[in-house]
Amino acid sequence: MSTHGKAPTSGRNRADRVDIFDTTLRDGEQSPGISLNTQEKVEIAQQLARLGVDVIEAGFPITSPGDFEAVSEIARNVEGPVICGLARTHKADIDAAWGAIKYSPRPRIHTFISTSDIHITHQLQTTRDDVKGQARAAVAQARSLCDDVEFSPMDATRADIEFTAEVCAIAVDEGATVVNIPDTVGYTTPQEYAGYFERLYELVPVLREVRLSVHCHDDLGLAVANSYAGVLAGARQVECAVNGIGERAGNCSLEEIVMLLRTRGDVHGLDTGVESRELARTSRMVSRFTGYAVQPNKAIVGRNAFAHESGIHQDGVLKERTTYEIMDATEVGLDSNQIVLGKHSGRHALRDALNDLGFRVDGAALNQAFQRFKEIADKKKQVTALDLEAIVSDEFRERAQGYNLAWFDVEASSRRAPHARVAITLPSGEESEGEATGDGPVDAIFVAIQKAANTDCELRQYTVSAVTEGEDALGEVTVMLRAADRLASGQGVSTDILEASARAYVRALSNALEGAAMREAESITAEAASERTPGP
Ligand code: KIV
Ligand code: ZN
Repeated sequence: MSTHGKAPTSGRNRADRVDIFDTTLRDGEQSPGISLNTQEKVEIAQQLARLGVDVIEAGFPITSPGDFEAVSEIARNVEGPVICGLARTHKADIDAAWGAIKYSPRPRIHTFISTSDIHITHQLQTTRDDVKGQARAAVAQARSLCDDVEFSPMDATRADIEFTAEVCAIAVDEGATVVNIPDTVGYTTPQEYAGYFERLYELVPVLREVRLSVHCHDDLGLAVANSYAGVLAGARQVECAVNGIGERAGNCSLEEIVMLLRTRGDVHGLDTGVESRELARTSRMVSRFTGYAVQPNKAIVGRNAFAHESGIHQDGVLKERTTYEIMDATEVGLDSNQIVLGKHSGRHALRDALNDLGFRVDGAALNQAFQRFKEIADKKKQVTALDLEAIVSDEFRERAQGYNLAWFDVEASSRRAPHARVAITLPSGEESEGEATGDGPVDAIFVAIQKAANTDCELRQYTVSAVTEGEDALGEVTVMLRAADRLASGQGVSTDILEASARAYVRALSNALEGAAMREAESITAEAASERTPGP
């Protein structure tokens, strides 16, 4: 067993190099309650480029004007990885995907249609022949626009393999460069999935000339194991998402498959081009922007992934780290909190520190970040890299349009009900006030915000965590709520938990109402609506 981890990434040839196709911004964004704005999506995509993923699936452009805009902004602004847009086999989908990704120097269209009879009969309500015709036409259309085209036979693992093979052969015949075999409902097992690839190669030998890909969901907790089995059977692209987020139980976790391939290179001789020291930071950013907390015992990036509780283990690690650690925390970036600023640090020091963290902040944004930094540095002795990440992410969430927190007052006592007064700015720019009593000070603030916004919300989840250790740590709050029939989350950061809570609540509300308004605008576009069938 290797305890040294990192296998060399440079000089790998195509045969022993596994491409990482990140779908955090597409399949990941399909998780309930996630509502990323364009700026947040671009920030995540830039971080994914720093992480060194090969492909970023930036979104599903036909689904909404917001998705189209985000994908085209990523295509224009993110350099390095291939930028991919998802499309059903419909002509309008493929045109929209191309319209959004064409600004990238490395565009890819990813088109899909189901090959399982269960989907063909009940969802598509069509025939196998029609599916073959749609796949052929879609790949041909995509190839007429773009040199790089990926095809996915959705629900492949529950489909008749002979029929799926026929459809894959058609896709390759029309010029698909990548063929992806999705385990859409997380049903397969490692052995079965490996067998599926072996049989596909027998049925369609030409598949050896394109890149085969795995896309596994985690419904039975097997997404990483199945992806690994597919890779051992010959696939050289893994579709995965940061922190394993995605539809239902999620997708294969990016950080887990990357570190599995790296740490056990001795077994399979494969690796990826990922800069693993960026994994922890990418995980924190995605968790923050999506509101999906990372469980403490999550492999690779969980808070406890490198913590040793039992005396025997601590003793062993103190004597020799490899007694109980198969990877080094520095390898996944869990040690990177060295930057320290204080209240005397100036604007230049802040800008340099932010640059080191990969944030390019100038002009008005730098002034804003500096003002926020000063407020925090006044209350906290040391501002570390983790604090800066939290502050800057918090600033990104401030909306030009939408609802924002202006101020709040709260009185709390053990002898009478807490009372809060709150002012928020409305999307029109006007200020609106609300006041309320509640079960506790946080509840009073939340009810006062609802009154100020003149709307009803149902609180679904409220979590508080500390950004760093220590008594003066910044607090980070995540709120998930349902408003206007939409689930949305919001986050807030402050040295004061009540302020962080108020910010998080206003942002969640803003995301829910914005999402509802967008949905209404879309439903007015009757043509598009009649074309639309449920997404993957
Ligand atoms: O799970 C799935 O089948 C998908 C496809 C679009 C690849 O997400
Ligand atoms: Zn999927």
